Amino acid sequence: MVSHQLSFSMNLSAARSRRIRKPTLPERPVIEFEDVSFTFNRHPVLEAVNFSVKEREFVSIVGPNGSGKTTLLKLMLGLIHPQAGSVRVFGDRPEHARRRIGYMPQHAHLDPQFPVDVMSVVLMGRLGHSRSFGPYTRVDKEIARNALRQMDMWERRKSHFSALSGGQRQRVLIARALATRPELLLLDEPTAGLDLAVETELSELLHSLAEHLTIILVSHDFAFVSRYVNRVLCVKRTVVAHPTSEVVGETITRLYGSSLKMVRHDKTNSGASGPCAHS
Ligand SMILES: Nc1ncnc2c1ncn2[C@@H]1O[C@H](COP(=O)(O)OP(=O)(O)OP(=O)(O)O)[C@@H](O)[C@H]1O
Ligand SMILES: [Mg+2]
Repeated sequence: MVSHQLSFSMNLSAARSRRIRKPTLPERPVIEFEDVSFTFNRHPVLEAVNFSVKEREFVSIVGPNGSGKTTLLKLMLGLIHPQAGSVRVFGDRPEHARRRIGYMPQHAHLDPQFPVDVMSVVLMGRLGHSRSFGPYTRVDKEIARNALRQMDMWERRKSHFSALSGGQRQRVLIARALATRPELLLLDEPTAGLDLAVETELSELLHSLAEHLTIILVSHDFAFVSRYVNRVLCVKRTVVAHPTSEVVGETITRLYGSSLKMVRHDKTNSGASGPCAHS
C-alpha cells in the first residue's frame, strides 16, 4: 500500500527544505465521477459531474460559497449518495474505500465543553485503523505523535482542544487526518484561520506529502495552492477541470463573480500582473 511508503517522521522544517517540484503522475484513477447529479431536498446542487483524479495528483477544488465543494467531498466519502451517476474511489464504492481516506471536515463537530486533549483528538484518527480492538497500541500512539510533530503541535499535546486557537485546531484536525495513514487525503478549507507563516508551512508540507499520496484540497485561496497543485476543479453546479496553468483571472472571475482580489501567481509581489485570484 502506498501509505506504507509514507515517512511520518518528516516534520515541517524537513518539508520546508525540499525543492518545490510537482510530482510525476502515474495513470491509476483514485476518484472517478461519471454523470453524477446530487439534489438536496429537490434543490439541485450538482449536475452531470464528470471527472477523475489519478494516483498522486494534488488537486484543488475551488468555487463560490454554496457551489457544492463540501458536497463533492461527502460523495467521495460515501457519506451521501448521488441520485444519478456513479462515484468510484480506488475502483470501489466510496464507503468501502473510506478506510484509505484521511478527511479533515470544514466544520469539526467537537463539543467545546467536552474536555478532550489534543493527543486524544489525533488518536481518534486511529479508530477503525488499529490492528487491535482494545486500547490504542504502541504503534497507534507513535503514529499520532509523529502526526502531531508534523503539524508542529507536539508541544500542545496535553492542552485541551477547546483551549486552542482556531488555526491551532485546524492543525490538530489535519494531524488527525494524517494519523489514519491515508492514501487519499481530503481537506476541506484547511487554510481557513491560519496565519500566513503557518499557511506557507502547510503548503510545503502538503507538497511533500503529495509525492506519496493523492490530495484533494478545497480552498477559496487559490494563490495558496496554485504553486503546487496539478489541477483545479472549478465547481458551480457542475465541475470543470483545468490544469493549474490554465486557471487565469478570467476563469476565476467567471466562477466567483466580480468581487475578487487579484493576486500574483508566484506570491513574490503584490503587483497586478498575476493570473490568479481569490475572494
Ligand atoms: N444538509 C443539507 N441539507 C440541505 N441542503 C444542503 C445541506 N448541505 C448543503 N446543502 C446545500 O447544498 C449546496 C452546496 O453546499 P456545500 O456545503 O457543498 O457548498 P460549499 O461549496 O462547500 O460552500 P462553502 O464555500 O460555503 O463551504 C448549498 O446550496 C447548501 O445550502
Ligand atoms: Mg464547504
